[in-house]
Amino acid sequence: MELAKRIIVALDVDTKEEALSLVKQIDGAEIFKVGLKLFTAEGPSLLAKIHSLRKKTFLDLKLHDIPNTVAEAVKAAVRHNVHMITLHASGGREMMARATEAALKEAQKKDVKKPLLLAVTILTSLKDEQMKEIGMEPHTSNQVLRLAGLAKREGVDGIICSPQEIEIIKKEFGVDFLVVAPGIRPSWAAAHDQKRIMTPSLAIQKGADYLVIGRPIIKSASPQNAFLRIMQELNSSVGSDCKNST
Ligand code: C5P
Repeated sequence: MELAKRIIVALDVDTKEEALSLVKQIDGAEIFKVGLKLFTAEGPSLLAKIHSLRKKTFLDLKLHDIPNTVAEAVKAAVRHNVHMITLHASGGREMMARATEAALKEAQKKDVKKPLLLAVTILTSLKDEQMKEIGMEPHTSNQVLRLAGLAKREGVDGIICSPQEIEIIKKEFGVDFLVVAPGIRPSWAAAHDQKRIMTPSLAIQKGADYLVIGRPIIKSASPQNAFLRIMQELNSSVGSDCKNST
């Protein structure tokens, strides 16, 4: 896969006008992430507008509910033609199995491509101490592996994980299990609130299939130039025919 198609631009803005302006400016990118705030504010019509600009959407709603409710939400997302969608692995095996089945069946019914289902394991905002508070195993990395294993068994396409976990996930679950990594920072960008960051080149070298990048691009004086700068760095360090391409 081309490197430019592996960068997901996070549209962490308030309005559809801002979002669409970014989509138009960042011409080289193919996938744009719409999260809880923007989707709640603007609804599915924004997804249709992004698609009309010939771009793909990553609907990052981190679904977590009873299996039937998640399956129905996934069906609705298929009808909106999203390319990727997130759900919480801690919702359990049945929830993930029903989501996978719903995505497949609805995509067949509508004759569209099945969206990629991506599991969120442990929120990066949770530290070991907070894990203990909610009664979960305090060793975050064990928990990430356990949940990723469940997700894979239930047909989920891959996981969202911090750049530090890319190698272990690929080693444990194989190259076909997709890894999508946020917490990406070019050397010239501010870290903001991200604690465990990695450069785009290193994350791709470690095996990430997709990188989610928000503020280093969208808060830049020129989002298009920031995207191009990242692409130049990736092309010179990794090359267009990276061995980890999927
Ligand atoms: O601006 P920045 O590059 O930090 O944005 C990263 C994006 O990835 C945000 O939309 C954030 O919500 C999302 N994300 C994250 N860490 C996770 C999961 C998602 O930063 N573990």
